[in-house]
Amino acid sequence: MCGIVGAVSAKDSTPFLLKGLATLEYRGYDSAGLALLTSDGVSGLQRARSKGRVAELATLVKQQTFSGNIGIAHTRWATHGVPAERNAHPHISGKLALVHNGIIENYESLREQLQGLGYVFTSDTDTETIVHLIQACFKGLIGEPAENLFSAVQCAVVHLKGAFALAVISEEEPDCLVVAREGSPLMLGVAEDGYYAASDASALLSVTKRMMYLENGDVARLSRDAVLVVDGIGQMVERAIVTSSLNANAVELGDYSHYMQKEIFEQPQALSNTLEMISGAGQLQPGIFGAEAAEIFQQVDSVLILACGTSSYAGMTAKYWIEQVAGIPCNVEIASEYRYRQSVPNPDQLVVVISQSGETADTLAALHHAKVQGHNCTLAICNVPESAIMRETALRFITRAGPEIGVASTKAFTTQLSALFLLTLLLAKVKQRLSAEDEKVYLDELRHLPIAVDKVLALEPSIEKWAQHFSNKQHALFLGRGRHYPIALEGALKLKEITYIHAEAYPAGELKHGPLALVDSEMPVVVVAPNDEMLEKLKANMQEVSARGGQLYVFADGGSAMKPTEGVNVQLMPEHYGLLSPVLHVVALQLLSYHVALVKGTDVDKPRNLAKSVTVE
Ligand code: AGP
Repeated sequence: MCGIVGAVSAKDSTPFLLKGLATLEYRGYDSAGLALLTSDGVSGLQRARSKGRVAELATLVKQQTFSGNIGIAHTRWATHGVPAERNAHPHISGKLALVHNGIIENYESLREQLQGLGYVFTSDTDTETIVHLIQACFKGLIGEPAENLFSAVQCAVVHLKGAFALAVISEEEPDCLVVAREGSPLMLGVAEDGYYAASDASALLSVTKRMMYLENGDVARLSRDAVLVVDGIGQMVERAIVTSSLNANAVELGDYSHYMQKEIFEQPQALSNTLEMISGAGQLQPGIFGAEAAEIFQQVDSVLILACGTSSYAGMTAKYWIEQVAGIPCNVEIASEYRYRQSVPNPDQLVVVISQSGETADTLAALHHAKVQGHNCTLAICNVPESAIMRETALRFITRAGPEIGVASTKAFTTQLSALFLLTLLLAKVKQRLSAEDEKVYLDELRHLPIAVDKVLALEPSIEKWAQHFSNKQHALFLGRGRHYPIALEGALKLKEITYIHAEAYPAGELKHGPLALVDSEMPVVVVAPNDEMLEKLKANMQEVSARGGQLYVFADGGSAMKPTEGVNVQLMPEHYGLLSPVLHVVALQLLSYHVALVKGTDVDKPRNLAKSVTVE
């Protein structure tokens, strides 16, 4: 989704801004722009915007020989107004230029008010409202005239409803950059040669690892050698400087063709890192979820999982584990629904929010909603230690997948599953449903998981052969049963995200209640079919497909006794993996989608219309 970078530096900020935008490309965007000022104020406001890639913007900036110590830049993911140069940020009002992430909910009424004051709008965006609003505050057309840019921004943000992170510069104050945040992420970089700002820590790594995370309501003034922060009630505050644990190399592509490919193949390492704390452990300690975990796990009588997209499918898989192994009820809700639904709160329920980014607006809002409803037993499972979600729950678990850049989530999902399996075991243990013997068996299986995933990755050449069969299809069905139904859902999501083939997933028993009508010889049907307690039922469902001419692509394993026949393609998984078999099967489905996308030539890492971190509703 949209990305912001900003700088007040002793040197030319242009290279940092362009590099920062390139780092943020993975979030998804459709236009980009920047604005620069020199600290001597001589060259005035310079702005370049382009519809398309950051590389095109870089060419434009080079042609126009732009430079400046102070600058702001932006990648835009269209919400209000089509992707077009006129809608790209920065937006200008008089001598002010501004970039913004988020959505201003009351922009229509503000726009009317500002038009009434004589402001002329040149874009369809909600963002342009903010820059005119700051100008109006500056001039005293709204409220008392502001003394400077900093107070004008403080005055303006009070009138904004919605979520925002913004950065603004003024030709009249060519020594500073003012930023503000409410709801959308924004952090500052503290470097030798100046202060920097970004909506994502990875964009700051080229200049510093020392970061200051702004809180909701904060407005900050950055100059070459100082930063001043005030909070939502206008009081001066100090925000701690932390050293980011992110590694700049971790976001490099290296020898891989795509981030998605890199991230699929990083899964054994990502799982080892995530499970490091159990590498030599004879038994599990609740403390891996936080200091209060033992007490909270003891108290809770059920689990409610809130998440979006792939993360919600991790939650759905965990529901099968938690109910079977820990013996307590578990519900999974799509965060965007839960946040607006009148539910029946239970203070003894453990609310688990799962998010790769930790910044997904709906998941954060669902967590806030749960807390307002009286849920205090909260746990975040997240891949970004410094993210908003991690600061808002009683318990937390960091999946150590490393930065995930590809829009299609892969290693985040499998590490989430490993974390959720640990949670299952701990809940079972606390509820006295786990014998010491079983605990040891499950721990051994978890420890062996990276090796088992490695063996699935070795199947790539034979999975790749199937890709041709999908590339000219318009539709595909994915089937699974039990804990593999969410894996079918995730497989279908991967395929539609990166290949644009319409894919649906069903619990196979539902076929004859409707979707079977879709099946003919043109319909590829992918089946997740390990040798588990549902296999015989699943085989009967596969017969239903075969009888209608459907083409089956079955991911089975040793004990399933399945052989390829006319219309039935079988890929045997290297080993059967019991309760953890969803982790292995999803890796095979990731590889399938990846190779179909390669055949189709789609943009694997940045599929159309999608963003990596969905920071707006
Ligand atoms: C996954 O491939 C998707 N891009 C998407 O569904 C994603 O999982 C969802 O937006 C949730 O993101 P989060 O895990 O960062 O909260």
